[in-house]
Amino acid sequence: MEQRAPRDVRMRLVEVVGRDVIAADAVTLYLAAPGTRQAPASYVPGQHTTLALPVGGNILYRTYSLCSDGQTSRPWEIAVKRQHGGAVSTFLCEQAQIGTIVRASKPEGAFTLPRPLRPDMPLVFVAAGSGIAPIYGILRSLARLAPSARPRVQLHYASSSYADALFADELDGLDPPHRWLHSWHYLADEGGELSAPAVLRKTAPLTTGAHWYVCGPGSLKRDMVEALAQVRVPARNIHVEVFGNEVDLLPTVADSAPMASRIRLADSGAMLETRPGETLLAALERHDYAPPYDCRAGTCGVCRLRMVAGHVRNPGAGDLTPAERAARYVLACVAQPLGEVTLATAEPRRAEGLRVQSGSRTALTLTLRVWAAAAAIALYAGAVHLAQSASQAAHQTSAGTAPATSQPTPKRGTGASSITTTPTLTVPTTTTGVS
Ligand SMILES: Cc1cc2nc3c(=O)[nH]c(=O)nc-3n(C[C@H](O)[C@H](O)[C@H](O)COP(=O)(O)OP(=O)(O)OC[C@H]3O[C@@H](n4cnc5c(N)ncnc54)[C@H](O)[C@@H]3O)c2cc1C
Ligand code: FES
Repeated sequence: MEQRAPRDVRMRLVEVVGRDVIAADAVTLYLAAPGTRQAPASYVPGQHTTLALPVGGNILYRTYSLCSDGQTSRPWEIAVKRQHGGAVSTFLCEQAQIGTIVRASKPEGAFTLPRPLRPDMPLVFVAAGSGIAPIYGILRSLARLAPSARPRVQLHYASSSYADALFADELDGLDPPHRWLHSWHYLADEGGELSAPAVLRKTAPLTTGAHWYVCGPGSLKRDMVEALAQVRVPARNIHVEVFGNEVDLLPTVADSAPMASRIRLADSGAMLETRPGETLLAALERHDYAPPYDCRAGTCGVCRLRMVAGHVRNPGAGDLTPAERAARYVLACVAQPLGEVTLATAEPRRAEGLRVQSGSRTALTLTLRVWAAAAAIALYAGAVHLAQSASQAAHQTSAGTAPATSQPTPKRGTGASSITTTPTLTVPTTTTGVS
């Protein structure tokens, strides 16, 4: 089927201008405005971009955090960990080359440093697997600050092994004397376990006064958020980005059982047919509507639409409030119609349709994300070649899954000066150091 360009001004063409293999199953890709070495758009470290890639006749959207430091004179950097059987990560790791052109959204997200950032504001970062990506970008931006402006920082980073740890050496290189950055590496193959109690033991007495940044699978989010709430860390100081899948895997068009579904729009009376397995968002876009969206992963809430009648699979991926559920809002990026569904409108006015990270979830910048979101809208033809995506391969546990043993261990494989084993929670108060 011929692919048509979507009515989406938020997507722009970006060119792969560099590629580094950073681990056995991971690459860093450098993305620039085509023909340049400039960032395709400005961003704040910690934000993410959504790539749109044509795979097997569909457009697949996947979100990747920027791990660069915010300078627009340089390309964006994304670190992609290949998922076994994962369509897009396999392509990006194995086939994306310098010169490859893809479409990318403007960077979004609230997993960013507090503003204003004060040097007396401790920061604690907790990452698992590829969850280190946005945190690495934030830490790089902190490294560029004047020492007097830099807060004290702790990093707790879990990996399955040293070989799998992304940016391990680069992280240690940010502050070799450990003047402002103190890191713990939890390596599962050496018995390290990143657990909430283990982290909290190391952060006191900074715990309640710190801003917390947690990035990894949903299980890490749950454990950390619960533990932080118990020790009364204010919700506004907890920032969470989740890479893991907490909703049912969305079947692709190809592997879904055929189901006659359609969307009726109450405001216009329009009737739109949907394809099996298609999300509301994908179906609306295919019919040239432009509902708002950001993550396309069921967490930011931007794509919520009000359902007047009918039923959907994955209505809200756990991210809608009870009041929103009662009002029959659904998240269009993950909800799939089951039979005929009536929506109040496809393109809600900002006041109705955009939650814009407000209310309780601003304080807890909870962006629970999912892995899979097959979408069947049209984009540009022939920009990239994804036809051989390895979607049937064996599945593996997420690289971000926290390891399952009990003691944190310093990372190995580098000199002693790079092993951060600060044994207590007390972090030096001096902030003179590297810049
Ligand atoms: C905000 C955000 C930021 C992110 N940042 C990063 C980042 O910096 N780096 C990074 O590497 N990732 C990041 N991700 C994850 C990324 O968006 C992708 O989800 C990831 O790369 C996997 O995509 P994929 O297409 O390769 O895998 P998919 O094809 O979506 O598959 C994911 C997994 O599900 C399995 N699977 C697929 N279909 C089925 C099925 N029908 N039945 C059973 N299992 C199935 C696959 O085998 C695979 O293991 C981020 C996600 C979010 C939400
Ligand atoms: S676009 Fe973020 S929840 Fe749907």
